[in-house]
Amino acid sequence: MMTKQIIIGCDHGGFVLKGQLIKHLQERGFDVCDIGTYSADSCNYPEIADTLCKRIQSGEFERGILVCGTGIGMSIAANKHSGIRAAACENTFSARMTRMHNDANVLCLGERVVGAGLACDMVDLFTDTDFEGGRHNVRVGMLNDLDK
Ligand code: RB5
Repeated sequence: MMTKQIIIGCDHGGFVLKGQLIKHLQERGFDVCDIGTYSADSCNYPEIADTLCKRIQSGEFERGILVCGTGIGMSIAANKHSGIRAAACENTFSARMTRMHNDANVLCLGERVVGAGLACDMVDLFTDTDFEGGRHNVRVGMLNDLDK
């Protein structure tokens, strides 16, 4: 189980779901750092992803959540940052496996793809599932090598 501190961000396409996830995480006792966006006005997801990923790279946060319309733009942007392993998930199996096998540190969700109930379940698996290590350590090490 990770520390009860998490960072979250969204663009306009994920603004409503981000609010629902923050409420859910706070009810579970998480200290949630919300980096915006703070309205439904149009904005650019790569900038939000960049802000969030830099705060994970610095060690300030262990894990983060990014929400856009599909989860895809955010994951593409996040995965351009070294040390970031971002997974766009649409089901609970993927959310659990990306923790167990990929040691994902950023979960990307699409407000236009998944409902709030499913998104909350995926967030719970993302926060509560441990990395399996073992043979997956070697593979995550290879991912880190690709950053160089
Ligand atoms: C915004 O319209 C939309 O393109 C964005 O939220 C996201 O889905 C991009 O991948």
